Amino acid sequence: MGQKHICILSGAGMSADSGLQTFRDSNGLWKQHRYEELASPQAWEDDPELVHEFYNMRRKQLGQVEPNAAHKALFLLEEKYEVSIVTQNVDDLHERAGSKNILHLHGELRKARSEVNPDYIVDIEYDKLTIEDKDPDGHKLRPHIVWFGESVDAFDDAIELVRNCDVLIIIGTSLQVYPAASLVNYAPQDADIYYIDPKAQEYMQMSNVKIIQGKASDRVPELVRELMK
Ligand code: OAD
Repeated sequence: MGQKHICILSGAGMSADSGLQTFRDSNGLWKQHRYEELASPQAWEDDPELVHEFYNMRRKQLGQVEPNAAHKALFLLEEKYEVSIVTQNVDDLHERAGSKNILHLHGELRKARSEVNPDYIVDIEYDKLTIEDKDPDGHKLRPHIVWFGESVDAFDDAIELVRNCDVLIIIGTSLQVYPAASLVNYAPQDADIYYIDPKAQEYMQMSNVKIIQGKASDRVPELVRELMK
């Protein structure tokens, strides 16, 4: 028999214990800013400098934080399982913890792309972007982020991964944003599904999901220890 396939669906809570803000908690980014003014095609059209400022600030922070115990524990699973990570996060903390198969549903902070040619994508590490940064044809570079109202191009690949999992572990997401939140519905009937989040009870109604209430950096390593036995 081949290795069992574990699929992870992670959200901002995964990286909260590394020091990155979530979006909808009381100190979350979308409690401090209106997302329409920072994370939408309209915002980019109206005020690209403000949009850059927001993502430059987050990119800089990302360069100053480290993967936490939860990211590191997920990497250990690869000793025994085939592991796929589907993340809503735009940080690179799963990569830096060593995980191999990572699908970013909502883009990546470390990348910029041409506002005209979606195939022109560059790694800018933790640097600033300005409106003077252009692609070879002179079009502005924008953050490689899926903004509100834009399509989630990686969604079909994510469905395929979830359809083919034996275990699905959902970590640190409020499951408020679609289509990402609907991925749980594609898990096979007989898959084991876990949901690790301090508010898991509140956010999950499905009776076939095992609720693990708590912080990712505590509860993910515990679950990984169980799964490695
Ligand atoms: P949210 O801010 O909506 O949810 C964060 C979740 O993390 C909540 O369920 C919290 O209870 C949980 N949480 C907080 N601290 C935690 C900890 N220490 N350990 C584990 N969980 C913790 O963030 P997402 O669900 O990721 O999209 O939001 C989805 C999308 O909305 C994001 O990808 C982003 C945002 O708009 C884009 O920017 C495109």
